Amino acid sequence: MDSTFTPVAMTDDLAELLAAARTVQARAHVPYSRFKVGAALRTPTGNVYAGCNVENAAYPQGWCAEASAIAAMVSAGETAIETIMVICDGEMLGTPCGGCRQKIREFAAASTMIHVAGAIDDQKIGIRTSYTMDQLLPDSFGPEHLS
Ligand code: THU
Repeated sequence: MDSTFTPVAMTDDLAELLAAARTVQARAHVPYSRFKVGAALRTPTGNVYAGCNVENAAYPQGWCAEASAIAAMVSAGETAIETIMVICDGEMLGTPCGGCRQKIREFAAASTMIHVAGAIDDQKIGIRTSYTMDQLLPDSFGPEHLS
């Protein structure tokens, strides 16, 4: 996989997604990992849905921020992701885990953009890098395989 990804230019729509992701990141329930993640997605209707990771004392019962954002979208009656933004703290890129890549894939196209946000120059928060769905999960399995 090509590893030379560059972030896209910030737009009002992306700034709105980033703000939504940061808001929910602060609410993450992470007493065990202390690793707060926020995710915000936009659908083709323009609506934005966001969610954080929610851990559990029975560790495997916790879930990721992307899953929360997707659950909010589906609960609101929508089933298409146009763009998704994920934010976490730390030096390393907060790329979605394998399970979340598949969860996003369910509602994405190959060209759907996945933005990874976090600290950039001088601790300013911004988009660190951006991927297409196909870059993050190549040759993926999706709903069309079952039709
Ligand atoms: N986490 C996410 O929310 N999204 C990911 O894609 C990777 C991991 C969460 C799960 C857990 O609460 C914490 O980060 C540490 O793994």
